[in-house]
Amino acid sequence: MNGERELGSSLFDTRRDSSIPTVRSGREAVPAALMRRAHLEKLQLCDALERIADTLPRVDCLACLAAANAIVPLLRNIHQYEETVIFPAYEAALTSSDANLASTRRLRAEHVEDECFAGEVTEILLAIGHGEKVDNAEAVGFMLRGFFESLRRHIAFEREHVLPMIGVVD
Ligand SMILES: [Fe+2]
Repeated sequence: MNGERELGSSLFDTRRDSSIPTVRSGREAVPAALMRRAHLEKLQLCDALERIADTLPRVDCLACLAAANAIVPLLRNIHQYEETVIFPAYEAALTSSDANLASTRRLRAEHVEDECFAGEVTEILLAIGHGEKVDNAEAVGFMLRGFFESLRRHIAFEREHVLPMIGVVD
């Protein structure tokens, strides 16, 4: 299965069922497998965007359209899950560190920024996926790289600092 099919077959929001293994942290039960799956899907999206950026000005129209269709719903679903399940569990597991509470405020702010940026990236990918000529490949590549590199940094922070605190380890 190639990357585009994987993006198009995201099942993130349909996998919240009782068969998912959970880990315990304080009073909360966190579906560890779901969180790993969420980060995996975001990283697959980043990889797909990197392949698009690397081949510009050549364009794989189907890859662009697949990524364009996946970006916003994928990020919205994952962000909602993190903000309603993961971050509250993380905050409940903290002792008394304002710096750590500031972390979740920053992560929530990054979610908003990423969703706004996702809208712009989607527009560009839809345009070139529908055959619009790429006039400035360098600018499009710069935009895509800025987006997926930001997503990767965000995921790395959550994997290194947030998830271990709630018992989700790679
Ligand atoms: Fe996040």
